[in-house]
Amino acid sequence: MQELFDRRVLLITGKGGVGRSTLTAALAHAAHKRGKRVLVAEIGQADSDYTPLARLFGRDTFPKDPIPLSGGVRGVTLWPRKGHERFFKKVIPVSALVNAALSSHALQRMLDAAPSFNEMGVFYHLLTLLLEQRPDGKYEHELIIVDMPASGHTLGLTGVPSRVLEAMPSGPIAQAMREGQEVMHDPKQCAVWVVALPELLPVTEALELLDGLVKDKMPIGGVLLNRFVPDEFTPEERERLQPLLEEREVYGKARFIGSPRSEEALERLDRGSKVRVLRITERPLQGKALAASIAEDFASGRTA
Ligand SMILES: Nc1ncnc2c1ncn2[C@@H]1O[C@H](COP(=O)(O)OP(=O)(O)OP(=O)(O)O)[C@@H](O)[C@H]1O
Ligand SMILES: [Mg+2]
Repeated sequence: MQELFDRRVLLITGKGGVGRSTLTAALAHAAHKRGKRVLVAEIGQADSDYTPLARLFGRDTFPKDPIPLSGGVRGVTLWPRKGHERFFKKVIPVSALVNAALSSHALQRMLDAAPSFNEMGVFYHLLTLLLEQRPDGKYEHELIIVDMPASGHTLGLTGVPSRVLEAMPSGPIAQAMREGQEVMHDPKQCAVWVVALPELLPVTEALELLDGLVKDKMPIGGVLLNRFVPDEFTPEERERLQPLLEEREVYGKARFIGSPRSEEALERLDRGSKVRVLRITERPLQGKALAASIAEDFASGRTA
């Protein structure tokens, strides 16, 4: 488990609804319990009044600069514009010029339409947070855990630096992208975790996503197989219960059917990839209580 948290950045991705936000919150609490200065980050969407991740920390949203949250963790939203602003401030030393440029609507419209420009902004915002230091020279945010957007959009982000470098191999933007790649492609500093549900289609999608991430040269942490249903029946009990359950709907049937499915999914993942798979069990909880319960397992190393 310690190894899980000994990184600068963890990217939590996977298909929609698999539990990315819940596990991001749980990992953040667990890392904090283990003494890390943790920042949870999500990617800004202009049209949302609240986000499920912020709700898990008792807020509607996170601001564009890190703020302390309940439980000792900090939170931030990564915004394209914040990244652009920080980038321009670095390369153009006259801040009046930067502000003038960034407040020009025509320029903004052009920049927003430029391919990958938004992703580049998000990426650069993340990079500046990763490199931020305290007066004592230590990193301000020792571990940043990012609640990534669903699968396809994640690949949109992880592929940005190489796409940009292809188009612009030199200059200040290229240099920033290379700096970013140094962190993001280094397995000692970064790990991507794919969240999957123990069912047929989600496992297939997780395997596809892993392939895509490998193509983007991202270091893989492994799969978080979420909502795993452990088997509570012996083979004899199963044999005797099967005909009864085929006849009628009874309480507990979901677990009876769910556990073989979970085992099957685990086997398929093991066969289809060589990555580490951590099981996170299904629990009868929601929201903060759910994240806290999973965090305890992560912190104590009970997740296997
Ligand atoms: N281990 C678990 N046991 C029981 N319920 C769970 C578990 N993990 C997640 N859930 C539930 O699954 C739902 C989806 O979780 P969550 O919002 O974290 O997923 P997500 O991948 O972030 O979704 P989105 O694609 O909407 O961002 C929530 O209702 C959550 O409570
Ligand atoms: Mg989410």
